[in-house]
Amino acid sequence: DVQGEQSQRPPVVTIMGHVDHGKTSLLDYIRRTRIATGEAGGITQHIGAYHVETPKGVISFLDTPGHAAFTSMRARGAKITDIVVLVVAADDGVMPQTVEAIQHARSAKVPLIVAINKIDKSEADPSRVKNELLTHEVVSEEFGGDTQMVELSAKTGLGVDDLLDAISLQAEVLELKAVAEGRASGTVIESSLDKGRGPVATVLVQQGQLNKGDFLVCGVEYGRVRALFDETGSQVQSAGPSIPVQVLGLSGVPDAGDDFVVVDDERLAKEVAQQ
Ligand code: GTP
Ligand code: NA
Ligand code: MG
Repeated sequence: DVQGEQSQRPPVVTIMGHVDHGKTSLLDYIRRTRIATGEAGGITQHIGAYHVETPKGVISFLDTPGHAAFTSMRARGAKITDIVVLVVAADDGVMPQTVEAIQHARSAKVPLIVAINKIDKSEADPSRVKNELLTHEVVSEEFGGDTQMVELSAKTGLGVDDLLDAISLQAEVLELKAVAEGRASGTVIESSLDKGRGPVATVLVQQGQLNKGDFLVCGVEYGRVRALFDETGSQVQSAGPSIPVQVLGLSGVPDAGDDFVVVDDERLAKEVAQQ
């Protein structure tokens, strides 16, 4: 029951691709962080959600794992996004999870932008990557297709600005809008039970403003928002459309993929959750 005027919102971009092709490194470069180097076994095992202030405006990113075992996370990542950035390592080419990611983007009807990564390596062969993608009907603009392809290096940063430009261009075409004010609704990206903090849900706000103190229904769970945190761990008072935020205060751990809505009071929250 979202009401009010629609306004422009930031794009939500999911990074997908085969294991170790450089998804997290690319986000690290964009965010000036070092997440990839701290990951167990060098493997991403969850969906990371970040919003970044770029010269082109705010962009929200979801980082997905490339390991074969995490198909359902990739499917979820493709479903809640506006644009998929498909990372393909130029020294490795199209691999099984590259193809899987193309299929997730297609079934979610989300446009693809291809990031041909690791072009700093001497073995890099971007033309080979483009030809391999052609066999999966992902056709670059230079071949007369409609897919933007950017050659870059997450290590040196070469070409990363071109990727941000490509994302803004695609976002403009999509004319992304949302109601910025009023009761929030959105989707659970991830959830867990924290020993000290209790149930923790990382949600993507899709409409309205989610505020500390709001009454929330989240799948079969409910509660009053006790605290909100951004991806750096800082407390925030509210989060608007396209912004990922961690929520504390739920009665239990909701499922990833659950929708959430804000309602007027606790009684209603409990009632709706139990339905
Ligand atoms: P998963 O999340 O496990 O699927 O991997 P990923 O796609 O996030 O790849 P990750 O960022 O973990 O990078 C894998 C390896 O490739 C790391 O050793 C990175 O340092 C390296 N790497 C990533 N991007 C580049 C690049 O542009 N050039 C070079 N030379 N190495 C890179
Ligand atoms: Na990795
Ligand atoms: Mg990763």
